[in-house]
Amino acid sequence: MKILVLHGPNLNMLGTREPEIYGAMTLSDINTQLLELAREFGADLKCFQSNHEGALIDALQEAKTWAHGVLFNPGGYTHTSVALRDTIAAIGIPVIEVHLSNVYAREQFRHTSLISAVCKGKIVGFGWRSYTLALKALAEMLAAEGSK
Ligand code: DQA
Repeated sequence: MKILVLHGPNLNMLGTREPEIYGAMTLSDINTQLLELAREFGADLKCFQSNHEGALIDALQEAKTWAHGVLFNPGGYTHTSVALRDTIAAIGIPVIEVHLSNVYAREQFRHTSLISAVCKGKIVGFGWRSYTLALKALAEMLAAEGSK
């Protein structure tokens, strides 16, 4: 079972970025947690972060060639990117949308996600645990599908 964990813009600043909203864990701490959990599921994770929309699109397109599923926190692009939505729709593998914060308890512009409708599911508001919950759900779903 191969899974891409994709982090969008500004998530490289976790730990120092608005910790009252996003928590004290760094991106590297989160990736380490995920890699440990993935071992329990026998899943093979690749983690990647970019601040650039095109690089995120490239990573998703490439994931089609090797990954069974994707955990994706698109950061601010969640609310703006038709291009990322189109890529998710095009690749045909399950993508789980992940957010650390409860975007629905925040500014109105964060209540709209352009990608939710083309994602398999979505987990928001649990801080770093949003990622571990999403990984568990995706791994169980892929295992239930049988072949992975
Ligand atoms: C975020 C929520 C987005 O609105 C914001 O732009 C981010 C982080 C989250 O994980 O809570 O960069 O995706």
